[in-house]
Amino acid sequence: MTQLPKIELHLHLEGAAPPAFIRGLAKEKSIDIGGIFDADGHYKYKDFWDFLKVYEAATSTLQSPEDYHRLTLAVLEESAASGVVYSETFLSPDFCGNRDVGAWKEYLHAMQEAADQAERQMGITLRGIITCIRHFGPEKARETALCAAETAGSFITGFGIAGDEKILAPKDFLWSFDCAREAGLRLTAHAGEWGGPESVRAALHDLNVERIGHGVRAIEDLALVDELAERGTVLEVCPGSNIALGLYKDWRAHPIAELDRRGVKVTVSTDDPPFFHTTMAREYDRLADALEWDKGQFLKIAQTSLDAAFCDADTKDRIRKTLE
Ligand code: HPA
Ligand code: ZN
Repeated sequence: MTQLPKIELHLHLEGAAPPAFIRGLAKEKSIDIGGIFDADGHYKYKDFWDFLKVYEAATSTLQSPEDYHRLTLAVLEESAASGVVYSETFLSPDFCGNRDVGAWKEYLHAMQEAADQAERQMGITLRGIITCIRHFGPEKARETALCAAETAGSFITGFGIAGDEKILAPKDFLWSFDCAREAGLRLTAHAGEWGGPESVRAALHDLNVERIGHGVRAIEDLALVDELAERGTVLEVCPGSNIALGLYKDWRAHPIAELDRRGVKVTVSTDDPPFFHTTMAREYDRLADALEWDKGQFLKIAQTSLDAAFCDADTKDRIRKTLE
């Protein structure tokens, strides 16, 4: 399935950093990131909460706009090799070396340059979703939202929230989401991964987001599934991530097909590919093997994804041609 053109809506730029890239930065800057790799050099973690700690250690090496330039190019190269033609990528100022808004603009500029280069050389288009981190709390999220609001109009088109779903509630972040919405940014929130169906309801009703990151645990509440289908809410489903983190035991046990059958708009993404030993091509291959999804189903997924993308209509028209 490598050849099929793909649209990815849920990829954490920092979480897509290859282990060798992070090891290189740590060595270059003499940063002690602890024992975050296994004997084969892959990221090592026990569960989701341990994953968040490893994530934080790895991202502590990203300390300059130049680091983000290199990271953006490396990530887009990997995505393009998997057939991705359009990628919406979460970016977290919280994981950047220098976190004030002024400095963040330099980071954004570096990413924009890398994205332009990737578009010219590899034909992949990048848009960014500035993302606050739930377990860093509402105050940090406000700073992130203000930063996001200042950058609206660039390649940044959205605002979101990731992190530990079990801490605090979506409504605690309402100010930040309203601020981003007023700045013209589109909204998505991680929910229904570790938080259960009630976390999806809270993201929908309290933050009024149009997409949900993951959202798969909505399947535990069929009234909610119907509501998602009626509202046309798009789920950014990351099956390989869910399986690697132990949410479902294997690809057949994953609810993506059931959600699709029940009329929910599902899309497919990788989340943090090197952490979960995945790529977009691999996600497609596993879905084809386990669920017997064919090219027609994948084309439907790509169209749903593009319809739900946070870019402007001209960009969508241009990308749509690559799907034909
Ligand atoms: N869930 C929550 N936070 C995250 C994730 C995720 O899948 N990936 C990176 N940060
Ligand atoms: Zn995610």
